[in-house]
Amino acid sequence: MKNIYSNIFSFNKKVIKKTIFSLKQSKIVGLPTETVYGLAGNAYSRRAVQKIFSLKKRSKKNPLIIHYDYLKNAEKDVIFNERFFKLYKKFCPGPLTFVLKKKKNSKITSLATANLNTVAIRFPRHKIIKDILKNINFPLAMPSANLSSKLSPINAFDVFQEFKKKLQIIINGGDSKIGIESTVIDLTNKPRILRPGIIEADEIKKFLKCNLSKKKSQIRSPGMFKKHYYPGIPVILNKKPKNKNHAYIIFGKGYKNNENYFNLSKKADLKEAATNLYKIMKKIRKKGYKKIFVSKIPKKGPGIAINDRLSRAAD
Ligand code: TXA
Ligand code: MG
Repeated sequence: MKNIYSNIFSFNKKVIKKTIFSLKQSKIVGLPTETVYGLAGNAYSRRAVQKIFSLKKRSKKNPLIIHYDYLKNAEKDVIFNERFFKLYKKFCPGPLTFVLKKKKNSKITSLATANLNTVAIRFPRHKIIKDILKNINFPLAMPSANLSSKLSPINAFDVFQEFKKKLQIIINGGDSKIGIESTVIDLTNKPRILRPGIIEADEIKKFLKCNLSKKKSQIRSPGMFKKHYYPGIPVILNKKPKNKNHAYIIFGKGYKNNENYFNLSKKADLKEAATNLYKIMKKIRKKGYKKIFVSKIPKKGPGIAINDRLSRAAD
């Protein structure tokens, strides 16, 4: 039988070598991270970044996150500040993205940063991406590996679903452990959360011992566009489904064991629920349900990120 997934590879030395070779030629590859899978390309290459935008059908007004292994490499492109160092020490490598001022002599292509004078940087924790970053002398521009406005992929097969054979290499690094995108924090002024994630605003606030800005972002980032995180069928919040053709996303105890009920976390653990969110939405889609109804999810801790993604999916 023909292997339809012939562009999905397991992690080994040969595959890493091939991936690095591709990246050096400004090609785009699908890579695992601990948050979600990404579409990676050389951030210093306009040609590579151009390909990312066209593959994703993404608006050029939406800047990409630039991924690094070491501080000293990121320092070539952005201006650090005290709050950045503090957060970096505590949370990196990990699911936190920092918006900082771009250096004038940075080699990041202006296409990747949508001509802004800021850059979003992240230090991912997943072993595979770290291994790759260690062996190249440029950072990786890497948005989530989905078509613009769709759900982010959490395994190699999700990436395949989106791009089929348009990618020569998708590395299979298992399910993404966190399952939703990184928290994005703007540190160019008073700290401000641009996208909630598993690292919570409250934790950051306590840790930095300062209030976070509540001002709405000026930047039109994809997370701020309407109809983002769309699973392909209508999503209706805070309502029960009326029939069995409609799926019901629930959270916690006290629900019946109906076939069309999908529990984000039976033990009412919001972190587990965040990890399961995209997985469950994709499962519902595959099973052929026509609509998704969602019960109330507490708006605290990781529940803030869950509600953020759900309300955009429902928009
Ligand atoms: O977990 C993640 O962050 C994943 C993995 C692959 O690293 N990446 C990801 O990238 O979610 P993407 O492109 O799907 O989302 C990037 C977010 C967008 O909301 C974008 O607007 C914001 O980061 N962003 C990027 N550069 C920015 C900048 N200079 N200022 C403000 N927001 C920025
Ligand atoms: Mg995305």
